[in-house]
Amino acid sequence: MGVLYNQIADQLQALILEGVYRDGDRLPGVRILGRQFGVSISTVLQAHQTLEARGYLEARERSGYFVRLPARDIPEPRMPRHRSRPVPVTAREMTLDLCADEQKQMVPLATAIPHPDYLPLRQIQQSTLWAARRGLETLDYAFPGKESFRRQIAQRMAAIGVPVTPDDILATNGAQEAIILALRAVTEPGDIVAVESPSFPGILQALEVVGLRVIEIPTHPSEGISLEGLQLALEQWPLKACVAVPNHSNPMGARMSDERKKQLVSMLAAAGVPLIEDDIYGDLSHNGQRPRPAKAFDRADNVIYCSSFSKTVSPGLRLGWMIPGRHMASARQHKYFVNLATSSIPQLAVAHFLEQGGYDRYLRAARQHYREGTERMRSAVARSFPEGTAVSRPQGGFVLWVELPDGVSGTALYQRARAENINVAPGLMFSTTRKFENCLRLNGGNPWTERLEAAVFRLGALAHEAVVGD
Ligand SMILES: Cc1ncc(COP(=O)(O)O)c(C=O)c1O
Repeated sequence: MGVLYNQIADQLQALILEGVYRDGDRLPGVRILGRQFGVSISTVLQAHQTLEARGYLEARERSGYFVRLPARDIPEPRMPRHRSRPVPVTAREMTLDLCADEQKQMVPLATAIPHPDYLPLRQIQQSTLWAARRGLETLDYAFPGKESFRRQIAQRMAAIGVPVTPDDILATNGAQEAIILALRAVTEPGDIVAVESPSFPGILQALEVVGLRVIEIPTHPSEGISLEGLQLALEQWPLKACVAVPNHSNPMGARMSDERKKQLVSMLAAAGVPLIEDDIYGDLSHNGQRPRPAKAFDRADNVIYCSSFSKTVSPGLRLGWMIPGRHMASARQHKYFVNLATSSIPQLAVAHFLEQGGYDRYLRAARQHYREGTERMRSAVARSFPEGTAVSRPQGGFVLWVELPDGVSGTALYQRARAENINVAPGLMFSTTRKFENCLRLNGGNPWTERLEAAVFRLGALAHEAVVGD
């Protein structure tokens, strides 16, 4: 009989992990389950007690058994320990696949895009209409960016410890263009550039576009890029730049302390290697305190600052900016050669939105959404993924990095999940090597719905199957 109640317990556990019964659901009564499984009431009760002991059920007096999954204390991923050699960056087309149109029907856990419900649609509609009525002002080339936009950016930069004037700012088509322009300004094809590892795939693509070689520096899930690793790389290779996301990196979510940012800035300045800082998540700290960018500690004009409104106002506006410092002339020239200038209307619209003062209020709500979204996602992963899984604990932004138990392939999980209309980003996209093969990145920037929770539980069930299948 012992075997039988364990079998029933296993079957119920599988139903819970697959999301058939969810956290807080009441299980059908013991008589019904007894009939369903063809066993006695006492066997069902023994199965329930087993599941209670395993931490999946809670008995409530006179009410029955409820699914109550305590989030086990899931660890954060380890810092990858690897020594890399510079390699050319090639074939990063998988990201396009994740954004393809047919993926739109899927549960959107793959891309690092905020859910449209969380974007300030009404405000940006009003500001865009206002901008469109500006007449001739909207029709010319806006080199190097609309004055009103650059003035608003200068004000925001001053508030985070970077006192610049509008003339120091170049408007770009998103942060991606800013990073490419920064790389073009300070490197020649074939040069070696250090990046965080795991790294945002767009940074690897930017290196590929410019024809650069990459050296990947291990990155800690909460402390950011390893300064020791970077120092070793500086001693060993003729680096021409380092690209980093010190505030809530993608995919790890790491936020470097001010002390470590200062060290990063000073060690690169001492080596004469420019830092290209991507601060796209800086406004999305969950605790509401806007962290300073590394640029705030730059005394040697050695940091090229890049950011955009893609994670806050809207990715479709394609509006970003950069502060190239002494590389302004070169950055402007590269931009001019590729697309001359950034569209005027989005700049005027965002400048208007910022002037109206609604942006900070909107940010308060957005941060709250992303804090809740990432916490719920983390706890759903903790409850549904197999023992040996680790997940990052981001203090800002909305992406989570999941390290699966050794030997479980993130790529295989991605393929199986896709077949069930769940879209996740497999770990191998985040490196030029296969070292993150057992990882996934999940988007926690969506409203929490039953469909979403079921998808995370289904992923957990697939990961369990992969462990068993090993
Ligand atoms: C770290 C990071 N940098 C840059 C980008 C691209 O930004 P944009 O859409 O402004 O080009 C993203 C978008 O996912 C990102 O996560």
